[in-house]
Parts: sequence; structure tokens; C-alpha cells
Amino acid sequence: MKVVQVGIGGMGNAWLSAVRKSEDVDFAGFVEINDDIARRQAEAYGLDPALIFPTLPQALAAVKADAVINVTPPQFHRDLTVYALEAGLPVLQEKPLAHTLEDARAIAAAAEDTGALCSVAQNYRYLPFSQTIKSLLDSGELGAVAAVDVAFYKGPHFGGFREEMAQPLIVDMAIHQFDAMRYFLGSDAVTISARSWNPPWSWYAGDASAAVQIGFASGAQASYTGSWCSQALETTWNANWRFECERGVLLAEDDRVTVQKLLRVGEGPGALVNVHEERREVSLAPMERAAQDYLLHEFYEAVAQGARTGTSAQDNIKTMELVFGIVRACDSGQPVSLD
Ligand SMILES: NC(=O)c1ccc[n+]([C@@H]2O[C@H](COP(=O)([O-])OP(=O)(O)OC[C@H]3O[C@@H](n4cnc5c(N)ncnc54)[C@H](O)[C@@H]3O)[C@@H](O)[C@H]2O)c1
Repeated sequence: MKVVQVGIGGMGNAWLSAVRKSEDVDFAGFVEINDDIARRQAEAYGLDPALIFPTLPQALAAVKADAVINVTPPQFHRDLTVYALEAGLPVLQEKPLAHTLEDARAIAAAAEDTGALCSVAQNYRYLPFSQTIKSLLDSGELGAVAAVDVAFYKGPHFGGFREEMAQPLIVDMAIHQFDAMRYFLGSDAVTISARSWNPPWSWYAGDASAAVQIGFASGAQASYTGSWCSQALETTWNANWRFECERGVLLAEDDRVTVQKLLRVGEGPGALVNVHEERREVSLAPMERAAQDYLLHEFYEAVAQGARTGTSAQDNIKTMELVFGIVRACDSGQPVSLD
């Protein structure tokens, strides 16, 4: 499969590396609007400068491509992705699907109408950490999940578009954890209450901190608290998770997964007591390919088979409705229902 990658700076590096590593996918060309970045990346990766075009239409007119990888900032996603889909090309699209719900719906509709695959890079699903949680929950050994607690605290100084966004934490970062909640629970959100704020020392224009409560159709309640301008004692990028289950608890903290199961309710001195098994650390599930490598291979296979990926635009629109429902709840100060 020959691809055109649009946007080769920033996160574009991860996709340049993933395609280079792939045995199935190769580059037909590139699109980059910033000449300095184009020059720098051509040198760094040994790219042919004649294959780096300033616009997608120019690239597609000049080279023969089977697919497009879109790694531009969110406000450019709709125009570029819809253009490619309407040209009959499947698209592997960086998250968030778009910077507004309206644009995200337009992309999902274009994927539906053209029948071309649009797959969204929710790479946090496809890491050993997440796969270990998913298989433990799916095994049923802990029973139903009643509640999920997520804590995320980081203080990255990215510069660029994130520092101008109204809701950088929720739309650009916590989207991974909200998407992972849907994935882990196998259920969609129905109710939201949320509050966001910007700490006085924040270097973001928009709100870099948030507290969110989500009710899922399964009956599970999820709570998320996070900040993107934390000053110390950061969590890992995967965040810390606690799942309160019918027959025990799954803790996933500092990229380690631990389980403790309830064995029985026994007689204690004067009262009943819960008797537990020993707390058990679970080895992370090995993966042949993870993150971008996984997504690229999944995309390649889905295109070859005329199938959808796990994070197609038609699925991802549910993550976008959740994310923008949270933004609406923050803006209005009112609970939001997603029915
Ligand atoms: N999945 C992840 O873990 C992850 C991590 C980081 C970024 N991202 C996503 O990747 C996307 C890009 O983020 P970034 O951090 O790389 O941004 P960035 O601004 O650092 O880089 C974007 C690149 O695209 C180029 N570009 C911008 N508009 C263009 C256009 N119209 N045509 C061609 N090139 C264009 C820029 O010049 C730059 O080289 C965002 O949607 C972001 O949320 C995802």
C-alpha cells in the first residue's frame, strides 16, 4: 500500500517511523505546508524533496496513492480527510477526528457515503497496558464493573495549537481516556456532568484542568480528574485507573496492573468480613505491534479486506459525542444527556 502522509512535523515523526518499519506500507509522497519543516524532515529521514507537496490535491495529482495518513492539527482534519475520502482514498486520521462535533460528523458522513475507510488513531487502546486491562475485564473473572476512577496529571510544555485551544486537556488529551473508557466497558456514555478550570499558573489559554462524571449505558459510573499543567508528581501518560468490580478490584497505576479478588464473606470478630485473595500483579500482555505500528497494520489489513477498523470514524463519532458533550457540560454548568 502506498500512502501520502499529510503533516510531517510533530506527531508526523511517529508515522514516518511506523511506515518505515512496515513491511506492507510505503510512501508515495508527503504534504507539508511549512517549508522549514519539509526541508528538515527530508534531511532527517532521507525523503525525496520532489515528493513533498504543499497541498493534498497537488500531491494526489502527481503521485499514485492508495491511502492518506492525516497528521495535521485538528482544525485541518475535515477539509483534508473529506477531500481524500471523496477521491476514493481511505484515510488513517490522527485524533481528535476533528476540532468540532460538526466537522467530526461531516467526516463520519463522508466515510459512510463514500464507503472509504476513515480510521482514527486512538493509539492508547493498543498498548500492552490497555490490552491487559481489556482482557482482564473481558475474561469476566472480576464480574461486572460498577465504577471507574481515572486520574491523569501531567505538565507538558508543547507550545503550538494546544496552548490556544479552549479545552486542550479534554479535547486533545483526555479524549484518549474517554475513548478507552468506552473500549474497556464496551458501552457508550449516556449522562455527563463536568467542570473545567485553568489554574492560575497555567501556560494554556484554555482550561487545562477538569473533573468529569460519566454514566454509561452498562450502568457503570466513571469519574475522571486531570490536569495538563501539573507541577510535580506526574502520572504516566496512561493515567491511573481503578475499576470497582462485582468480585474484586483492578488497579492500573504507574503502568502496572494489579488485581485483588474477593474470595468470600467470612465470619469476623463480631461482624462479617470480606476475605480476599493476595493482591496479584498481572504481567502486561505482549503485543507483536503496539500503538501506531498496530494501527497502521490494522488499517492496511482492513483496506485489503474491505473491512472497518476498531476505531473507524463511525465508531469514533461516539467518542467525539462524549468529548463534546463534556465540553458542553463545562460551558453550561448543566448536566448533559447524550440520548
Ligand atoms: N495519538 C497521539 O498520541 C497523538 C500525539 C500527539 C499529537 N497527536 C495529534 O496529531 C495531530 C498533529 O499534532 P502535532 O502535535 O503533530 O501538531 P504540530 O503542529 O506539531 O505538527 C503538525 C504538522 O502538520 C503540518 N501542517 C499543518 N497544517 C497542514 C496542512 N494543511 N497541510 C499539510 N501540513 C500541515 C505542520 O506544518 C506540522 O508539520 C493532532 O491532531 C494531534 O492531536 C496525536
